[in-house]
Amino acid sequence: MKPAFTKKLLDWNKQQNNREMPWKGEKDPYKIWLSEIILQQTRVEQGWEYYERFIKTFPTVKKLAAAPDEKVFKLWEGLGYYSRCRNLLASARWIVENNKGRFPDTYEMILGLKGVGPYTAAAISSFAFQLPHAVVDGNVQRVLSRYFGITTPIDSTQGKKIYDQLAQALLDTDAPGEYNQAIMDFGAVICKPQSPLCEQCYQKKDCVALSINAIKELPVKSKSIQIKERWFDYFILIYKKQLYIRKRTTKDIWEQLHEFVLLESTDGFANGAITKKYIYDIVGDGKVVARPIGKPIMQKLSHQHIHGRFTLIELDKTPRLPDEFEKLPVSKISTLAFPKLINTFLETHSGTLFGEDNSHKK
Ligand code: ADE
Repeated sequence: MKPAFTKKLLDWNKQQNNREMPWKGEKDPYKIWLSEIILQQTRVEQGWEYYERFIKTFPTVKKLAAAPDEKVFKLWEGLGYYSRCRNLLASARWIVENNKGRFPDTYEMILGLKGVGPYTAAAISSFAFQLPHAVVDGNVQRVLSRYFGITTPIDSTQGKKIYDQLAQALLDTDAPGEYNQAIMDFGAVICKPQSPLCEQCYQKKDCVALSINAIKELPVKSKSIQIKERWFDYFILIYKKQLYIRKRTTKDIWEQLHEFVLLESTDGFANGAITKKYIYDIVGDGKVVARPIGKPIMQKLSHQHIHGRFTLIELDKTPRLPDEFEKLPVSKISTLAFPKLINTFLETHSGTLFGEDNSHKK
């Protein structure tokens, strides 16, 4: 006997769910994997186009594995959280080198791929191979906490265990892929975080939160995350129509992306004396024309806010920079992948700065 929740969810899915997405019903594990990695930290509407471009450019895992890093990064540009892109490439190459180019077909092996956690492994293994693993993420937890009236915090050890077990018990093992996609869609379309559509909900008769008027209170979260503020001063050095750019090698979210000369501060933007000294150390006593470009901009990430300020520095001699900096002709700026903050800046200002080159615009 299927639980009432499961039965109603599948009824809704068959009768009313008309959410369409390009990866829905897909059976090729490679394409499913690609879609799930994109959707880990990107909204469906934004991820859609990227997914289509990726499968067109790299229709098989072999094609992806053989691609040059820079080409894949360029295609990923704008999605952010680049570790996903690095892991994608590493896993594709691992599959080709160690698994004869065949996508792994067990839950455990899929979970072993870089960048794949329990949610993504459950999604891929159920969609592609009909394996009985329930997806559990914030959306599923929200649906279950409301329907069953669960008040244990979703971010507590105990809460995680409760939700995992419950989700697994509710899974329709006859159609795990269909069930998993249905609960994702249900959370996105009906049991939404704000203004859920309780009036038309198939589950409304049995929903505990609705019956006690606690929809807004559920799910419960114990911690509020600490947001770190970071302040980036970018200096766009130009000498003889060449820019000075480096590829980041630090193991962080911007690894392998490019950037201008950067001065980071933790307590607001650096003051004039500090920036002057910083520039002086690079350019010595040559003639310098420094011009702030545009207003500071801000990018919100899940755990940090990045504030960016950009200054154009026109030089009359070669700057003294660490070896990792390379010269790049101004006309080539659109060939490299940059962090989102720099792209946002370039979208507005590259025309004024470097002539009419707007080709980096999507
Ligand atoms: N989020 C993660 N995976 C998804 C999927 N397959 N469909 C819609 N949203 C998702």
